[in-house]
Amino acid sequence: MQRETWATRTGFVLAAVGSAIGLGNIWRFPYVTYENGGGAFLLPYLIALFTAGIPLLIFEFAIGHKYRGSAPLALRRISEKWEWLGWWPVLVSFVITLYYTVVIAWAVSYAWFALTQAWGADTKGFFFGSYLGLPDTFWPTGGLQPSVAIALILVWIASFLIMVRGVSEGIERANKIFMPLLLVLMLIITLRGITLPGAVEGLNHLFTPDWSKLFDGKVWLAAYGQIFFSLSVGLGVMITYASYLPKKADLTNNAFITALANSGFSLLAALGVFGAIGFMAQAQGVPVNEVAAGGVGLAFIVFPQILNSFPALGGLFGFLFFVALVVAGMSSLISLVNVVAQSVADKFGISYKQAVIGVHVVAFLGSLLFATKAGLIYLDIVDHFINNYGIALIGLAEVVAVFWIWKIFGPLADHADSVSDFRVSRPWLLLSAGILTPILLTVMAWKALAADLAQPYGGYPMGLLIGFGWLTVLLVIVAAFLIQRLPWGRSVAVEMERREA
Ligand code: PHE
Repeated sequence: MQRETWATRTGFVLAAVGSAIGLGNIWRFPYVTYENGGGAFLLPYLIALFTAGIPLLIFEFAIGHKYRGSAPLALRRISEKWEWLGWWPVLVSFVITLYYTVVIAWAVSYAWFALTQAWGADTKGFFFGSYLGLPDTFWPTGGLQPSVAIALILVWIASFLIMVRGVSEGIERANKIFMPLLLVLMLIITLRGITLPGAVEGLNHLFTPDWSKLFDGKVWLAAYGQIFFSLSVGLGVMITYASYLPKKADLTNNAFITALANSGFSLLAALGVFGAIGFMAQAQGVPVNEVAAGGVGLAFIVFPQILNSFPALGGLFGFLFFVALVVAGMSSLISLVNVVAQSVADKFGISYKQAVIGVHVVAFLGSLLFATKAGLIYLDIVDHFINNYGIALIGLAEVVAVFWIWKIFGPLADHADSVSDFRVSRPWLLLSAGILTPILLTVMAWKALAADLAQPYGGYPMGLLIGFGWLTVLLVIVAAFLIQRLPWGRSVAVEMERREA
């Protein structure tokens, strides 16, 4: 089977950066930083970046490039027994697409609402009530919420139209448009944010270091969690993207470029967001910490409120902000859909295009669950479990396997060196990714588990948490083992025999 390759070196870098920069940079990073000690958080964040983020990125690039395959195919080539470890992230990626698309859909609706500030004065009531139609009960779903479902269909159509064109004509082209556009949008938003009256207050709040937080284990875990999610490592995304690289392609350098671009962008977003929050605090005459809110609340409740009191052109800046969310989200989404589609294509020997069609149909139907009236609740639960157990556990399994089970750390580093501008430092990789990261990830998963057992997450009923949380985590692993047992499609099997011969 002929594998597509990126048409240009920048094409690959832009796609990797596009995957990394996503919803996580615009609304997650600013708030996580703020919550975990402001300026003092930057230290754990940078340490997590250099001890876990960049080393893992280098490994994932090297695995994809050396073994030329989607995560399951690459892992099968490393060791047949371990194919399931490639399917696990693929299935987690699939689950993430189901609700990531829904958040993008909200942003699509809000870009439209922004033009007329349709949310009115009560932005909270508008979001939960008129827009999401959130019921008081958790189950049944309350049926589809038309306003969300329509935007969701648009998101899936856009994703389909990009992906059906393939890797270089579709994904690469889209990112070549998306990334510069996103940078321009973000620069406009940030410049406006930091020049608003009162912005300085917000920035002070963001960056005034609370050094005592450095002794809090939770802060370190938050830093590692943010780096993992933000760099898209642990989900097979980067392995699959690197499998499309031509034989001669710089890996180490590209990993650094991707990581630094991603963090730079997060910083830019944080400046803009906190400038705006400072402005709002001043306008309302309240302290900054009363305005700041996390996650969904920041983008869809606090931001509309801020836009309501904008000195001028609130409609336009609102539109640009939500378009930026959509663009950032779309380029991450296609990287997730791509892992799933490419893995299915590799395994069953069907064409990439056929796999793209199949994945879109199934994922679209699955995502409808999150477009129901109670969808936000399911989204919140699934997201919590995926973030705490999905990504971290896969990351843990990945580093343990590379260093201590397959023992391919040396060959992978050699491989990266053989094609890259500069050599990677072995002691740095071994200490950080081989020793420190697995220890920290174990602690992290353990703490999350203890917290979840001590207190039901979000105060939701246990049945709901078991159904959407624990069962999802478990089913995904079981399914990974089952898929390993299915036979490979003809073309791949033949190709493998040839390699082995
Ligand atoms: N990195 C993306 C973000 O910050 C999310 C993502 C995670 C995308 C994993 C792909 C894979 O929003």
